[in-house]
Amino acid sequence: MNRYDEAKKLLRKYKQSHIIDFMEKQKDSIKEKLIDQVLSLDFEELELLKKKIYEEIYVDLEELQPIKSVKPNELSKEERKEIEKIGEEIIKNNKYAVVTTAGGQGTRLGHNMPKGTYKLDIGEEGKYLFEILAEALFNANKEYGITIPWYIMTSEENNKDTIDFLEEHSYFHYPKEYVMVFVQNSMPLMDEDRKLLIGKNGLIKTASNGNGDIFYSMNDKKVIEDMEKRGIEWVFISSVDNILLKMADILLIGMTVKNGTQLGTKTVLKEYPEEKVGVVCKQRNQIKVIEYTEMPNDIAKIAYDNGELVFGESHINCNLFNINALKKISKEKLNYHIAFKKANYIDENGSYIMPEKPNAYKFEKFLADAFNFFDDISILRGKREEDFAPIKNLTGVDTPETAKKLYENYWRKNK
Ligand code: UTP
Repeated sequence: MNRYDEAKKLLRKYKQSHIIDFMEKQKDSIKEKLIDQVLSLDFEELELLKKKIYEEIYVDLEELQPIKSVKPNELSKEERKEIEKIGEEIIKNNKYAVVTTAGGQGTRLGHNMPKGTYKLDIGEEGKYLFEILAEALFNANKEYGITIPWYIMTSEENNKDTIDFLEEHSYFHYPKEYVMVFVQNSMPLMDEDRKLLIGKNGLIKTASNGNGDIFYSMNDKKVIEDMEKRGIEWVFISSVDNILLKMADILLIGMTVKNGTQLGTKTVLKEYPEEKVGVVCKQRNQIKVIEYTEMPNDIAKIAYDNGELVFGESHINCNLFNINALKKISKEKLNYHIAFKKANYIDENGSYIMPEKPNAYKFEKFLADAFNFFDDISILRGKREEDFAPIKNLTGVDTPETAKKLYENYWRKNK
């Protein structure tokens, strides 16, 4: 059987014959690419996900326990100094690297370029998100007299635009040989009838498969290998869109090393039970992040006598992993979560459709699900006004405007 017939057989078997109709109308170059794409898809996995779309999600909420965090102001001067020294030594001895997850689509912000290329109205000339991260790293390098390797995870969709942008801005003066960009995987999108969509390029429409793909991709793209060659032992993984991110937090590193855990995370206190953040906690022998969508209000609102929420350690994507933990997770399979989002596509008449409401199922792995493979984590309680200024939406909460305010307040006090 030739490749074309093989692709058609697969599409028929998995009830995606509309792709055959589309394929037959295409010129040879597109047809060839489509055949390659079809033959490379894991239809069995897609079948399972198709079923999952209509399954009720069951979240086990039995035996949840809070985890005690370290609050910096409860440490004595000596304790703090000792912990910071441990963190500092890790950095100074070139055992520390940073990874920025920048493969997301940023649909809520609605900026049609990679999110890191978004320019904020900060300072005299404005600042790009990538620029703010590069600056934070640059400052750490100056302080510790080293150069921290900076890895950036992009997606198939935004890799070229990201690299072009960084080149155009000379990597914001970060030494280029210390910036490594790698591409995560994608998954096809499905419409409400569970049919694959066609994208603008005439191929089956795909999108990045969630920040949780980072572990698989770091192994697959030899990032972990590269880190090991450089002698890296601790890896900080965080988002592209928090402009108060501390790229080299010696307290977080020192505390994790001192506690002897393979994972560390910085949290901020959840402000009120309905706040839309996931919380870090423990369930039996597993560390969990319970997403806000999964947390019933009666559990969310349990509070201590001082009013602080018991399940209040908000996960803000500031995570530290030992390299051995990364190796372990990269061999595990993270489950897909299903989101219903807006996605442009080509319809059966060849028209390009830009829907006004969600129309497509997207399959995403969550980075925090990797915590499940561990029974312990060190949590450092940060402060919102010092550590967390996310940019998610164009209007409402977590906007460029709210982040700018937090950023400017912070820098006014910490100049
Ligand atoms: P979000 O979950 O906030 O998603 O990503 P997003 O793509 O930025 O925005 P929306 O939901 O489409 O509006 C949190 C972090 O994870 C990265 C993002 O780039 C951001 O740094 N991410 C997300 C990836 O690297 N890959 C993905 O597939 C998804």
